[in-house]
Amino acid sequence: MARSGKVTVVGAGFYGSTTALRLAEYDIFETVVLTDILEGKSEGLALDMNQSRSIEGFETKVVGATTTPEGAGYEATANSDVVVITAGLPRKPGMSRMDLIGVNAGIVRGVAENISKHSPNAVIIVVSNPLDEMTALAQLATNFPKNRVIGQAGMLDTARFTNNVAEKLGVSTASVKTLTLGSHGDTMVPVPSRCTVDGKPLSDLLSQTEIDELVDRTRNGGAEVVALLKTGSAYYAPSAAAARMAKAVIEDSGAVMPVCAWVDGQYGISGVYLGVEAEIGKGGVKKVVESALTESEVAALKVAAEAVRAKQADVKDL
Ligand code: 2OP
Repeated sequence: MARSGKVTVVGAGFYGSTTALRLAEYDIFETVVLTDILEGKSEGLALDMNQSRSIEGFETKVVGATTTPEGAGYEATANSDVVVITAGLPRKPGMSRMDLIGVNAGIVRGVAENISKHSPNAVIIVVSNPLDEMTALAQLATNFPKNRVIGQAGMLDTARFTNNVAEKLGVSTASVKTLTLGSHGDTMVPVPSRCTVDGKPLSDLLSQTEIDELVDRTRNGGAEVVALLKTGSAYYAPSAAAARMAKAVIEDSGAVMPVCAWVDGQYGISGVYLGVEAEIGKGGVKKVVESALTESEVAALKVAAEAVRAKQADVKDL
């Protein structure tokens, strides 16, 4: 089997290490690099993953590297095709994603600058929170073309919505189609006109109150996991989403996914990173896909755009 390309995952916490393992198990990359500032952590995890190769049947080589905020150790990441930035602190119970902005801005800025020096042609996938703002910050810090910096959130929120609908109706997740756009936070925008079960509109199967409850649960999906875990935040569903995005990039698949992308005129919105559907491939976002939303869905998307625009304007000073 032909393997190609190099993907780096920055941050070997649960989110980063699970993403690295998923990417390795796809068995499509030549190399997966996992980095962390904790000495030996990523090397240890990489060795452990490599020791699973003969059992799981993949040949992708996982390389661990200890890095410093000043940039030592980043040579191991050189010329990556894709970089997933998971670095930063997760939420604690009761915290909003926005509470992390001060501390995570410094971390993401430093990582992004180091990545831009060593992998000037990479596509960057940001997952650190608050997601929409950290994606904007990574673009500013790297000065990469905006289509080469993407955030992961819509895939995750959509997957949570799908799971909630499937559980409520007792059907398989495969029969459910949902979509969320907007921000990875309070102004997440569920798109009822794109939600179906076996092709039937969700509104034929559930009352508006029931749909609203599922939307609320989706919007709080991350917080629900944080409250149960008590330390750390979700990583199985988030890593699945981030890994799929990296796969679409390296395979140049053109898969259409809800992601945090630079919006430039679509839906009458410009100049902001926002959750929209986009074709993902080599070079990152090939095209933002504008689909037929209802008037109220577009209105909600515009509200989300203005909410994140205000916060994104602040990140350059953080
Ligand atoms: C979540 O929603 C980590 O932001 C991520 O779980």
